[in-house]
Amino acid sequence: MNASVNTGVAIQAPDYVKNPKLIAWVADMAALCKPDRIYWCDGSQEEYDRLCQQLVDAGTFKKLNPAKRPGSYLAWSDPSDVARVEDRTYICSANKDDAGPTNNWMEPAQMRSTLQPLFDGCMKGRTMYVVPFSMGPLGSPIAHVGIELSDSAYVAVNMKIMTRMGKAVYDVIGTDGEFVPCVHTIGAPLQPGEKDTTSWPCNKTKYIVHYPETREIWSYGSGYGGNALLGKKCFALRIASTMGKDQGWLAEHMLILGVQNPEGRKYHVAAAFPSACGKTNFSMLVPPTGFDGWKVTTIGDDIAWIKPQADGSLRAINPEAGYFGVAPGTNYHTNPNCMASLDKDVIFTNVALTDDGDVWWEGMEKDTGKLPDHLIDWQGKDWTPQIAKETGAKAAHPNARFTVAATNNPALDEAWDDPKGVKIDAFIFGGRRSTTVPLVTEARNWNEGVYMAATMGSETTAAAFGAQGVVRRDPFAMLPFMGYNMSDYFGHWLNLGKKLQASGATLPKIYTTNWFRKDEAGKFVWPGYGENMRVLKWMLDRLEGKAQGEQTAFGVAPQYAEINWTGLQFSADQFKTVTNIDTKIWTEELASHQEHFDKLAQRLPQELLDIKADLEKRLVEA
Ligand code: GTP
Ligand code: SPV
Ligand code: MN
Repeated sequence: MNASVNTGVAIQAPDYVKNPKLIAWVADMAALCKPDRIYWCDGSQEEYDRLCQQLVDAGTFKKLNPAKRPGSYLAWSDPSDVARVEDRTYICSANKDDAGPTNNWMEPAQMRSTLQPLFDGCMKGRTMYVVPFSMGPLGSPIAHVGIELSDSAYVAVNMKIMTRMGKAVYDVIGTDGEFVPCVHTIGAPLQPGEKDTTSWPCNKTKYIVHYPETREIWSYGSGYGGNALLGKKCFALRIASTMGKDQGWLAEHMLILGVQNPEGRKYHVAAAFPSACGKTNFSMLVPPTGFDGWKVTTIGDDIAWIKPQADGSLRAINPEAGYFGVAPGTNYHTNPNCMASLDKDVIFTNVALTDDGDVWWEGMEKDTGKLPDHLIDWQGKDWTPQIAKETGAKAAHPNARFTVAATNNPALDEAWDDPKGVKIDAFIFGGRRSTTVPLVTEARNWNEGVYMAATMGSETTAAAFGAQGVVRRDPFAMLPFMGYNMSDYFGHWLNLGKKLQASGATLPKIYTTNWFRKDEAGKFVWPGYGENMRVLKWMLDRLEGKAQGEQTAFGVAPQYAEINWTGLQFSADQFKTVTNIDTKIWTEELASHQEHFDKLAQRLPQELLDIKADLEKRLVEA
């Protein structure tokens, strides 16, 4: 099918594109953005290799040494474009209250007239890539498809890894199927004859815009991560959370793992930790000494779509097909499965380059026992241990990331792309708190679990702009990813609990964890990583009715003797340091929950205030 644009660019959709609405939309967007060319991605390996070579020729990619890291590339972004931009992210619902107090909002018509001049001619001198993708297994009843138009080849190749990208998506769309339209531009048009002066063109002005009612995404000015790979946060969380609210399901910032005990019983756990707080790590956990016969497998590392079934169970899929994970801190001690996943066919962004054409990031010295003598850092500058010592310069940006296919993961669960999903037995919510929140507690019931999730706090990291190490409330680890009113979202979770209960099903248990408590010297007390298995096992013991736990003001906690300590020196005193609930500190914590609730007061469900009153009573009695 064909259509032509007033700029003279031929749309020339391939024969297999049979949806007139889609073709008309591409024509409209081409007329607005005025690219020099339109390229329809087919998702083939040949196409991926060709686009990567094009990125090498343009200087955006460096091909890594194939003897060290076959099929892999390194990109360095502009130093101003290194993470999601939460202050530039908008939920443009018709009614401001439907976006709620935690989101930036603009009236849709006003946003459209703001974006119109920015998008007008924004792709001049460039190619518009038409990127068809499915979130979830192709054609699965729980999957949803999108089309991303982007002037970035980096986006096209990343989308190939992160989603089911390619021409089979058009079979799903057919002649009249639904798709979420996603428009992305780096916002750096070229005049005739003009060449890029940088290998990462972008724009100082940035807009990441969602229209939840019409399910559209418009992204301007950034080429990085969640700003630009629109299937991930924009679609699979912000737009999908809105779809889930309307249709009775959940789109969550959660990893999904399978855990099998030596007797062969298998459970599935979904866990929400804020950005850069350990989801990828936990989803690939290697059980430590003392856990012979235990097996942990990955279904997903970042996003879960969870749908209630007629029998009252919850089934979850990972809508993604790859991992866009934090590199710094990853090594063979902390996450061997992740390191093995990165052996080949990886796109690295903002890590350092070694003299022999491989990559390096902070944390790798734990494997080799020493720092490299010389590197080129993520900004293209010389790096030596001496320079690092004198200036504090990081070789890799703290939010440096890898993009890799899930199929590279040696711990991939066999059901990772089962269209039916897996049955969830427990939820975990865990922030990064150097004080206050204990290692693990279990909610006494669904509503108390919702309260724990709704009040979750975390110390900010490099994945979010702003001051580092400040506690911010990050309900359900969804603060930056909510597509609608946060209080309505709490209500959605509470209602789901009621609905599941009514069906007579056993509800998943809900836990809160904190791997990040520090001692007076500022050091993590809990060893974390693979050792988190000890906590995970206690949760499964609770599911199986094998651990009694003990009541605390903030849920049921493990007794020291209920944890399997084989292979780890961790004294009862140390255990107390990570589990202790201090009445004075918790009185302040609950006051801070109240401040958080005050901000969300408008539609806040009364149930949460009731739980809070109950916790206050328990704290006084404790
Ligand atoms: P996003 O991709 O941003 O959503 O992050 P994520 O939640 O997947 O985080 P990831 O697993 O990549 O972990 C990020 C950082 O947390 C890394 O620097 C890890 O070293 C650190 N980390 C992960 N697990 C633990 C743990 O159990 N203990 C400690 N102390 N640090 C951890
Ligand atoms: C996060 O920040 O939670 C991420 C990375 O998973 S990004 O896709 O850039 O949002
Ligand atoms: Mn994430």
